[in-house]
Amino acid sequence: MLKKIKFCIVGFLSIIVQSKAQTNDSFPQLGKNSVKEVINAMTVEEKVLILMGLGKDNWERPPKDNWSLFVAGIGGRTYAIPRLGIPSVIFADGPAGLHISPNQIVGAKAEMEMQASEQKRTSELDKTRKKIKSSYYYCTAFPTETAIASSWNVDLVEKVGKAMGKESLEYGVDVILAPAMNIQRNPLCGRNFEYYSEDPLLSGKLASALVKGIQLDGVGACVKHFAANNQETNRHSFDPLEVGTGWHRLLDKPTINAVISQRALREIYLRGFEIVTKEARPKSIMSSYNRLNGFYTSESKELLTNILRDEWGYNSFVVTDWRAGIDVAAQVMAGNDLFMPGRYQYEELIKAIKDRRLDLSSIDMNVERILNFILTTPRFKRYENSNKPNLSEHSKIAYQSALESIVLLKNKNSTLPLKKVKNVALFGKTSYSFITGGTGSGEVNYKHAVSILEAFKTGGYKLSKVLEMKYMQFIDSVRNNSTDKKIKQSVDFHDEMSISSEIIKDQEKNTEVAVITIGRSSGEGFDRKVDNDFNLTRNEKELINKVSDIYHKAGKKVVVVLNISGVIEMDSWRNSVDAIVLAWQTGQEGGNAVLNILNGKETPSGKLAVSFPIKYADVPSSDPKMFPGIPIENPVNALYNEGVYVGYRYYNTFNIPTAYEFGFGMSYTQFEYSNLKLSDTIFKDKIRLSFTVKNIGKFSGKEIVQLYISAPKSQLDKPTYELKGFEKTVLLKPNESQLIIIDISPKLLSSFWSGKSAWIADKGIYEVLVGSSSKSIDLRSSFNLNNDIMVEKVNNYLYPNYMLNELNSSTN
Ligand code: BGC
Repeated sequence: MLKKIKFCIVGFLSIIVQSKAQTNDSFPQLGKNSVKEVINAMTVEEKVLILMGLGKDNWERPPKDNWSLFVAGIGGRTYAIPRLGIPSVIFADGPAGLHISPNQIVGAKAEMEMQASEQKRTSELDKTRKKIKSSYYYCTAFPTETAIASSWNVDLVEKVGKAMGKESLEYGVDVILAPAMNIQRNPLCGRNFEYYSEDPLLSGKLASALVKGIQLDGVGACVKHFAANNQETNRHSFDPLEVGTGWHRLLDKPTINAVISQRALREIYLRGFEIVTKEARPKSIMSSYNRLNGFYTSESKELLTNILRDEWGYNSFVVTDWRAGIDVAAQVMAGNDLFMPGRYQYEELIKAIKDRRLDLSSIDMNVERILNFILTTPRFKRYENSNKPNLSEHSKIAYQSALESIVLLKNKNSTLPLKKVKNVALFGKTSYSFITGGTGSGEVNYKHAVSILEAFKTGGYKLSKVLEMKYMQFIDSVRNNSTDKKIKQSVDFHDEMSISSEIIKDQEKNTEVAVITIGRSSGEGFDRKVDNDFNLTRNEKELINKVSDIYHKAGKKVVVVLNISGVIEMDSWRNSVDAIVLAWQTGQEGGNAVLNILNGKETPSGKLAVSFPIKYADVPSSDPKMFPGIPIENPVNALYNEGVYVGYRYYNTFNIPTAYEFGFGMSYTQFEYSNLKLSDTIFKDKIRLSFTVKNIGKFSGKEIVQLYISAPKSQLDKPTYELKGFEKTVLLKPNESQLIIIDISPKLLSSFWSGKSAWIADKGIYEVLVGSSSKSIDLRSSFNLNNDIMVEKVNNYLYPNYMLNELNSSTN
């Protein structure tokens, strides 16, 4: 069947080319003629082909029309129509760095095997990639989005984006499929590591910064997964055995339907996308796999046209997630322009046109958006990529971003920075093999990642050879002997090694401090579990307990480093240790950054962009009906009954204690907040707020200041307070201070009234809370809004298709 379709496509094109039998010059050319003229010159089949991406089914295959397009390991590309001057443009994954294959030879070999009879191709390929045999195409692994969100540093994120954009540009990629920016609704979502935060404002601002950075030199960003792709269980329903064949057969299995109130959608799940669309103008947006209030997002006109384009003003194209949705005609009509991988829908689309289920004018609109985008690409502008991005420069950015992503969670009696320490015992397998990021399409093929072991060695510390040997042997044996598919993919999914008290006692005698690294990975395609994942495993707890007992008896300290992808349980063990450093998955420079935080060369400056609950049952969406997966098999609906009460909005309003609250993070220095001033006590159309932050401690450091606003009670139930602004200071030396200015616009005061389909700021007193976390408020003030403001009237879209029983703080 696949062959048949391919034959059809090639057949169509050759018919077209033969029948016209003219030179390119006699056809309108993209870039020379108007897009409309080019579209008018296209056959129906060509129009349909432009909508059909060439996705992962032919990852490794050099395109026939242009051999130099060959970039191994990409996510997909578009169809070229040379007679009209339309090139094929290339998409590759992100978001923690560019995802391509480091070794073009691998691609070439695969191609040779696939096309054994076409030896000529490979020699062509060798000509265009002159140094193909000796070159590697490595990319920089930056911290995951979860990690870098803890930096709260938009300038830094923009720099990371710029570096990713440059790598894409120099490796011949036109669009990097990043940022991902779904809300971290529940800690078990397997892809949370690719998302920023539980808060939409923080997510939106960071994603905007990344998009601006990526797009600086002409490469396009692709904001994904639009929208409400908050879990991996049943994220879509193709047969996994058919992945890679280019074919997609629907199984008797549901695709998860996120059922969300209009208010929670607007305020939480769409808000970040709205910010990025309006502030950063991404060149592309990827619709998601899941259904939302009954419809596949790629088939939802209300989402992709009415909200995204008509209300938010988005004017570029939407691409499906790879093999998302069912009804291609509905997708076209909804405003989903490009289909990845696409080929399997070709016949369906042609048939829908023939049957008059689909109007050609809808197709023309999609083609127009795609051609308008192609005009802006480096490929179209004939940028000659060097294949030599400045990786050493980017590695410095990776280091700086790793550093600012790290969060100091505990530091009893100033355990850190380590003083006069020379001999260190490194426990935990992850001390020896740093986890740079999660698994799946977001993986990055970097050249080298610095482990904590390597960083300590380079730093001149004495480390135990016995421990090193034991852990390395353990890692090797897991790698070689495991039969588990997930562990084969990444040894990070394996449990910790069990270690005897005798060995620990021996280590204690020769070392001044113990560092235990706890590792966690997660990945695309599956959600995490509560036992042995969110909760530590028995081996991990035993390791922490035994090491702490033995070192504490000898009057020595124990530091835990968390090299984790997402939130874990900490309450049951955090009191056993002296210091906890949350390193997240901080990319290829993670080991160096951890060391320089531990030894005090750098002051920690990260703060949590997500709450750490005491136990999983405290998570507002922990009910299996709300975050279905295990134990519900093949769930159909995920009921978002917590409404807007996600993360700190829930814990604060319902007085649920957390292990570490949103916005929390310690430093080696202290900051003093003072002099809060508001430009007015009555809100008219804007209020400017200013205050001073001073470093009153002994170390240089950066502070993340947070502005929360508590809105007046009205008929609408509201969270106690919500994040409305933030800023990271520059590096302040002791005694230095910085003036912070934040503007408050009407939209920041408003809530979404579903019944009225409007953002309304209620009249009353607004409390302003400025502090160093969502629980630690240093400065307070207030202003009055004399009359309700209708900030924005929108339309009644995306009504939930199931009855929800939403949380309400006045009745619960
Ligand atoms: C993922 C996307 C990714 C795409 C292309 C999909 O499975 O959900 O995030 O960009 O594959 O690799």
